[in-house]
This record gives sequence, structure tokens and C-alpha cells, in this order.
Amino acid sequence: MAIAAKLLTKLDKEDLRMLMAIEIGMKRSEYVTVNNIRFYSRYPMEETLFRLKKVHKFDLIIRNTSKHEISYTLNSIAYDLLALHTLVEKNIISQLGPILGKGKESDVYSCMDDDENIYALKIFRIGRTSFKNIKKLRDILGERGHFSWLYACRLAAKKEYEALEKIYKLNLNTPKPIGYNRHTVVMEYLRGKELVYYKHIEKPAKLFNKIIKQTRIIYQKANMIHGDLGEFNVVVDEKANILIIDWVQWVPSDHPNADTLLRRDIENLCNYFEKKFNVRSDVDEIISYFYQERKKFLIF
Ligand SMILES: Nc1ncnc2c1ncn2[C@@H]1O[C@H](COP(=O)(O)OP(=O)(O)O)[C@@H](O)[C@H]1O
Ligand SMILES: [Mg+2]
Repeated sequence: MAIAAKLLTKLDKEDLRMLMAIEIGMKRSEYVTVNNIRFYSRYPMEETLFRLKKVHKFDLIIRNTSKHEISYTLNSIAYDLLALHTLVEKNIISQLGPILGKGKESDVYSCMDDDENIYALKIFRIGRTSFKNIKKLRDILGERGHFSWLYACRLAAKKEYEALEKIYKLNLNTPKPIGYNRHTVVMEYLRGKELVYYKHIEKPAKLFNKIIKQTRIIYQKANMIHGDLGEFNVVVDEKANILIIDWVQWVPSDHPNADTLLRRDIENLCNYFEKKFNVRSDVDEIISYFYQERKKFLIF
């Protein structure tokens, strides 16, 4: 991302247009022929070739010469660059800061807008690292489209942004969604660290309750199940404020696997709090509490 931000200052708008032309072509096939790139960019051939040469020299595109016609595809830096460019154009952010964290399938950076508000910028990197991610890519892609990391990352960002929007309306502790573009999501930034990094917590049962309560409200009011809830996806600050992050795997509560996924989320939390902080709880009890409108909820 840092490379993309640097390169952004060195490119002309014609270069960006060239990258966007390849991006359009990539909806149909991974590699896009020069002829098609020219067509999508609506530039003359001479300009197309000149610009392609330039962005290729900057290592933003990958050339394929194995077929009779030369073709190109974007690499992830180019895609980062396009997203950054759009976020800046839309005045969503104006500066990129240091990296905040690396998740299983994303990099998260800090960033700032013109008024010096700090946000978190999540960039999806699905399908680039491990086999597990490939499985996830398939889950997200479903039956649609050809097998493309670019498309999967874009869908993931959209899915996460929409989830944050739904939940944020409920006034709960999820990051406020600020904007999204392509494979990136801009959201509220919380100073804190993931639950997993806390060796000691002042009142662990209280914190546990807080997380369960929020999860229940989200389940009952937004009909959403996190799907990957656990010590890595709850950010806690010094005042024990929490943010439940990483909503890309959420499913609606009428999903065929909803019950299993809800149980898995709750079990993860219960096991973690029991093992690490000796907070005992009853998974079945909690789940029945999710299915009911009951207000009271007790810890054991
Ligand atoms: N809104 C945020 N504010 C601060 N840090 C964040 C925020 N969102 C994510 N992070 C950091 O980035 C890491 C990865 O984010 P996450 O959404 O969990 O991605 P993944 O799906 O790849 O696990 C988190 O564990 C956390 O350290
Ligand atoms: Mg995560």
C-alpha cells in the first residue's frame, strides 16, 4: 500500500485511465489484450502503447506474451493504487499512515482525512496467501464470475462495508463505516488491541457480558451472525470499550447454517473466556438467550 501511495504521485491521469481500462477488461478475463485495453481506454493505439509501457515499467501490470496477442493484467499494487486514488478523489481520505495490523486476509492501515480525523483502512488480500483463503474465496464467489482475486476482494469489501452500515445504525460498538472503494473499506479507528493480546483484564466477566450482549442485539435487531467471532476480532481499549470487527463472513439469521454458526461464535467466546480468564458460562443458556426476547442474562 505504501508503494501504491508513493507511485500515485508519479502517475498522470492517462496512466490511471490505462489501469482502469485493464480493470474493466478483467471482468471478462484475467488477461486483457492490448486491443481491448485500447478499446476500453478510448485512447489511440500509440498513446495506449506508450502508457502501457510506462505503467509496466513501474511494475503495476503483468505482461503475458504466451498467446499470439500480448495481454496484461493488474497486479495488487495497481489495484491498491486505483482504490487509493478514488478514495482521495472522493475526499474520503487524504493521507495514508502506518500499518495497524495484518489479519488473515487483509492489511489494515491508519489514514487521515483533510480534517485530520484518523481512520482505519482495510485492504482485502483474499486468495493471495494460503489455501484456506482460496476456500474462502470460493465461498464468497459462489457460482458467480470467473475465479478472480480482484473480484473476490471487491465483494468482500462491499460485504464488510454493508455489514458495518447495518450494525452502526443500531448504535453499537462496531467501527463507524466511512466509505469503501474496490477492495478497501475505510472505517472508524479504535486505539486498542485485540482481546487475544490482553494477559490480564480488570473485570473479565463484565467484558464477556458486554460482548455477548452486543452480539445478541446484532442478532436480534439486524438479524446478523458474525461467523468468525473470537479473541482476534474483538478490539478492546484501556477503558474496556469494545469494537467487534471483521464482519466479512457474516450471515443472515435465516441462513441454512445460522444455528451452527451462531453456536460456533458463542462457543469460541465462552471457551476463550473460560480458559484465559476463568469466566464460566453455559453455551446453551446463552444461545437460548439469543432466541428469546428476555432481557436478563446471568453469568455462572
Ligand atoms: N477499525 C479498526 N481500528 C483499529 N485497528 C483495526 C481496525 N480494524 C482492524 N484493525 C486491525 O487490523 C487487524 C485485521 O483486521 P480484521 O478486520 O480482523 O481483518 P481479517 O479479516 O484479515 O482478520 C485487526 O486484528 C486489528 O489489529
Ligand atoms: Mg480478523
